[in-house]
Amino acid sequence: MNMLLSVRNLKTYYRSGSSVVPAVDGVSFHLRKGEVLGIVGESGCGKSTVARSLINLLDKSNARIEGGEVLFHGEDLMKQSRKAWSRIRGKKISMIFQNPQSALNPVYTVGDQIAEALTVHQKMSRKEARDRVVELLKLVGIPEPESRLTNYPHEMSGGMQQRAMIAIALACHPEIVIADEPTTALDVTIQAQILALMDRIRAQFQMGMILISHNMGIVAEMCDRIMVMYGGVVVEEGETAAIFAAPSHPYTKGLLASIPSLDEDRDTLYAIPGSVPRLTAPVGHCRFAGRCAYAKSKCWESEPPLIEGENGHRSRCWLMEAPDRGHDDERE
Ligand SMILES: Nc1ncnc2c1ncn2[C@@H]1O[C@H](COP(=O)(O)OP(=O)(O)OP(=O)(O)O)[C@@H](O)[C@H]1O
Ligand SMILES: [Mg+2]
Repeated sequence: MNMLLSVRNLKTYYRSGSSVVPAVDGVSFHLRKGEVLGIVGESGCGKSTVARSLINLLDKSNARIEGGEVLFHGEDLMKQSRKAWSRIRGKKISMIFQNPQSALNPVYTVGDQIAEALTVHQKMSRKEARDRVVELLKLVGIPEPESRLTNYPHEMSGGMQQRAMIAIALACHPEIVIADEPTTALDVTIQAQILALMDRIRAQFQMGMILISHNMGIVAEMCDRIMVMYGGVVVEEGETAAIFAAPSHPYTKGLLASIPSLDEDRDTLYAIPGSVPRLTAPVGHCRFAGRCAYAKSKCWESEPPLIEGENGHRSRCWLMEAPDRGHDDERE
């Protein structure tokens, strides 16, 4: 009932020359009102491509949605016109990018850029918009907002720019915010402040959020549910607590084992052996088999489906279906 977004079998492929990269190869998930869903996985597994597909910001020259649907208020976002998108993007669904420089326009002041979001979508007068911009800059923790209004992006620090971008993304109280590595470019201390800020505003307005991150620590703290991607597909999904307490997929186990821990006496940090293989379609076997310590012949013969466990916990692993799962992590 409180479903905000339902993504079914989304496929987004890139073409370069004669080769096709199935960057997102049949991804399904949902987001509820006020919920934070984390998407994790190593570089190149398709996280940003999911995000860009949802908000229709793919590079049209070589990216194409090959199939699937994204239902938002019962309508398929994949079928909306350009005009319809101009009313959805920024107003109903907005995005916070990793790099504020790429999202802020260097030739306009920060105040004008935030005001534009308000005058375009909310039909505010200039005076109303200015007051609201000051309020928003305060909300995102920018000191002396009245004087900061007239700053150009280059006159602000990276942390300030990121706050300004968050102000733009949240200006119209969108129902969904997609944050793609929103703090990766920042110092750790600023990261924590900005994440806390985003979460406070999100909770205040009951927004749904999709948070993409490499950092399992951030995801553990911020997200209600976690979706783990590998090679363009979802390999595991479940409540955050369940994923951390009892990860099911060997890939998720590997990701969790790679988190540095202060109270463990380990000389070297665990790393999942190998790297994400080059994607080609069709696959026909478990995409993680080549790096998996538990792979059996079956894993090379067919690709496992997402197998449902308790409380909606899903895992794309043949070992899930065995009565004795027998793949409890015995790594030292
Ligand atoms: N514009 C593009 N043209 C061609 N291939 C692309 C393009 N963007 C991404 N890809 C490929 O699609 C796959 C998924 O990329 P994507 O950027 O979605 O990964 P990601 O999970 O966001 O990685 P990262 O953690 O590094 O941001 C990769 O193999 C990547 O090389
Ligand atoms: Mg990315």
